[in-house]
Amino acid sequence: MVQTRLTNNKKKGSRAEELAKEQRAISVSEFFLKNRHLLGFDNPRKALLTTIKEAVDNSLDACEDMRVLPEIDIKISQASEERFKVMIEDNGPGIVKEQIPKIFAKLLYGSKFHKLKCSRGQQGIGISAAALYAQLTTGKPTRIMSKTGQNSKAHYYELHLNTKTNDPEIIKEEVREWEKDHGTKIEMEMEGRYHKGKLSVLEFLQLTAISNPHATIKFKGPDDEIKEFIRGTEELPVDAKEIKPHPYGVELGILISMLKDTRQKTLQSFLQSEFSRVSAKVAKEICQKAGIFERARPSRIARNEADNLFSSIKATKIMAPPTNCLSPIGEEQMLKGMKKEVDAEFYASITRRPNVYRGNPFQIEVAIAYGGTLPGDSLVKVIRYANRVPLQHQAGACSITKSVIQTAWRNYGLSQSRGALPAGPALIMVHMDSVWVPFTSESKEAIASYPEIVKEVKMALQECGRKLATHIRQVVRKREQLKKAGLFNAYIKELASSLAELSGDEKGPIQDDLNHYLTQKLPLVNGEKNGKN
Ligand SMILES: Nc1ncnc2c1ncn2[C@@H]1O[C@H](COP(=O)(O)OP(=O)(O)O)[C@@H](O)[C@H]1O
Ligand SMILES: [Mg+2]
Repeated sequence: MVQTRLTNNKKKGSRAEELAKEQRAISVSEFFLKNRHLLGFDNPRKALLTTIKEAVDNSLDACEDMRVLPEIDIKISQASEERFKVMIEDNGPGIVKEQIPKIFAKLLYGSKFHKLKCSRGQQGIGISAAALYAQLTTGKPTRIMSKTGQNSKAHYYELHLNTKTNDPEIIKEEVREWEKDHGTKIEMEMEGRYHKGKLSVLEFLQLTAISNPHATIKFKGPDDEIKEFIRGTEELPVDAKEIKPHPYGVELGILISMLKDTRQKTLQSFLQSEFSRVSAKVAKEICQKAGIFERARPSRIARNEADNLFSSIKATKIMAPPTNCLSPIGEEQMLKGMKKEVDAEFYASITRRPNVYRGNPFQIEVAIAYGGTLPGDSLVKVIRYANRVPLQHQAGACSITKSVIQTAWRNYGLSQSRGALPAGPALIMVHMDSVWVPFTSESKEAIASYPEIVKEVKMALQECGRKLATHIRQVVRKREQLKKAGLFNAYIKELASSLAELSGDEKGPIQDDLNHYLTQKLPLVNGEKNGKN
């Protein structure tokens, strides 16, 4: 008996030791190597799109931050059958010299992760992941040129990322002249595949032009095709403010680490200064409910006390978070974006009031284009956006698509089969604007189905749907009447002759009377609305 236990113990011990030899830290870059699909680099087509997307998102964020109208130039040229050179240049604030290597050659390095502010980027893993992908597939370094002001010189870098240490390696570093006042230019060479149409770079740029009507984007493709998306407004998006987290949105683990890290000396001041909407009264109430002295040192709060604190936060009534952190596109600007990029006969848009999910403020906007050149015999195209960034992949997994399907479109003049998207000559745009968009994965392609979000999207769709319904009712009726009037018109001459024969009267006045009836009694022929029917 004793003997067996000893043997087992020995066995266990030695196996653990064997395992210990294999156990080591995994660098984020090694993780990326194996899981590149998580960040949108699953295949050569998508890799090219993701690279352009990450760079354009950063340029738009940077220009917005500087309050300058974005001018973005993109060039894709073919280096060999499967290799492409990409260049993205912007007129943003540029990047200070010391930061350039880390931004482009260190994963998880950025300025937006710790901020609760509406921005396109979040994780600080976008552009460095593209640079790493380029390096892995072609071995070529990423080339950066950046200038921060009229009176400074540009800094040029060629960079590699050390995949073991996740640190930048500087291949070349130079001071250069650049005619631009300020901005950033990125060049990479990578394995890719260029295509047009669905899920292409051009589709991304056009969708971006709709949600960013203030941006001018110029593109030159590998086949020398040139496409320019010229801005439709000089108005910059609202300058969104950064906010502190709302207590309702904080998770227990985060609360514990915030308690450890805070510089505040008392629990009450910690609650008041690290969160939004916590007044002295609310802070005291939370402490009281948790049974913790309000002057307690945050770093001394024990684990079970943190548990109590967490539940008492949930049990306390706290004002909703401020919404000046949001930057909706706006009804008017959405129409401008749609009108310049989509050729339709009718446009409507709606911006809902801000709402909150898990303590995070968000806002939903919907725009619909109808008729014109939009194809009438297929399912409606739904274009999804999060913080103005088009979401092109994983439509089925996205709460926006689900909400569109769950809306009863027959009420609004479109046909719809059960459990499907509506059909008809329409395009539906849905935008979610939030300080933290709950994506279903790191590649930021689909929005998670929080009930608050689904509800708001549906409300916005219904509200915009009602505008569409009014238009369809009027247009369809008008067209039908015009058709009837047209038929009648064709027979007027014949009818006048027959009536003249029957009555023995002159044909001319009868025909005049009939024409008068057609144009005056059926006012729609004159373009007026027939209010009676
Ligand atoms: N074109 C640019 N102009 C100015 N700053 C930039 C530009 N591109 C990237 N940056 C800076 O580099 C950081 C890292 O970018 P990125 O890896 O895409 O992560 P994220 O956008 O999620 O923060 C950004 O947070 C921003 O501060
Ligand atoms: Mg980014």
